[in-house]
Amino acid sequence: MNIRNNTIVITGGTSGIGLGLAERFLALGNRVIVCGRREDRLAALRARLPGLVALRYDMADEAQRLDFARRVAEDYPAVNVLVNNAGIQLATDLRKPLDMERIRGELEINLVAPLQLSSLFAPFLSGKPGAAVVNVSSGLAFAPIAAMGVYCASKAAVHSLSLSMRRQFRDLGIEVYEVAPPSVDSELGWQHRPQGGSHGGLSVAAFVDAVMAALEAGTVEVAVEQAAGLREGREALFDRMNP
Ligand SMILES: NC(=O)c1ccc[n+]([C@@H]2O[C@H](COP(=O)([O-])OP(=O)(O)OC[C@H]3O[C@@H](n4cnc5c(N)ncnc54)[C@H](OP(=O)(O)O)[C@@H]3O)[C@@H](O)[C@H]2O)c1
Repeated sequence: MNIRNNTIVITGGTSGIGLGLAERFLALGNRVIVCGRREDRLAALRARLPGLVALRYDMADEAQRLDFARRVAEDYPAVNVLVNNAGIQLATDLRKPLDMERIRGELEINLVAPLQLSSLFAPFLSGKPGAAVVNVSSGLAFAPIAAMGVYCASKAAVHSLSLSMRRQFRDLGIEVYEVAPPSVDSELGWQHRPQGGSHGGLSVAAFVDAVMAALEAGTVEVAVEQAAGLREGREALFDRMNP
């Protein structure tokens, strides 16, 4: 992937990996548009990074996804790269009756949003130089942590979807990349940590270094650090990860 001279849309750019990628792409001279739900974060980003376009949208809401895609196409017609990054991670106790609204919400942002956004952007990206979709899955797509079974299943689905998308989008001249992060120190899953403690893992900056190098090298499945081991070891690791 050419990591320069693009106009890039990144979902979930108000913190963590999305913000790290946005800052790095901006520093390389790309035009970058991010979205997120927290207006205070978006306003702070607009003030700190004047080159960044930061839009308030909830990607778990279909009407907002449709409006976002329409607005980007109208206002930023040069967009040639979509990064499906926004996601949440919830703990789920599968032994009790489930709160289905909560389950649907997690699946909506982690799986349905990348699915629908990619389809909405495909005709718009098609034919442009450097056209690409980047899906952020997870090392947990390959060997789940049982306590977060729905999250892991959503990421396994994103991995599968990326394979199909890569094959179909080939006809449209759109490259499809999958980034499978290991544990990266972001705000992800703060709900199930006491007092919102650190997620731990690789720093966002170190992770972004690895991703940019792999994307530039044309690696279509970017599995960083432990995530690479998970991809290779798959289910063999399940018992070790779930003692
Ligand atoms: N950190 C890790 O260890 C790790 C490992 C594997 C995979 N990942 C994946 O990496 C991606 C980024 O996560 P992160 O670690 O950077 O976590 P994060 O710091 O919590 O960032 C998540 C981003 O997604 C946005 N977001 C969440 N729900 C949204 C919605 N409904 N609409 C629009 N934006 C939404 C958040 O913005 P708002 O809250 O402002 O909406 C935020 O900008 C996720 O897909 C995650 O599953 C992370």
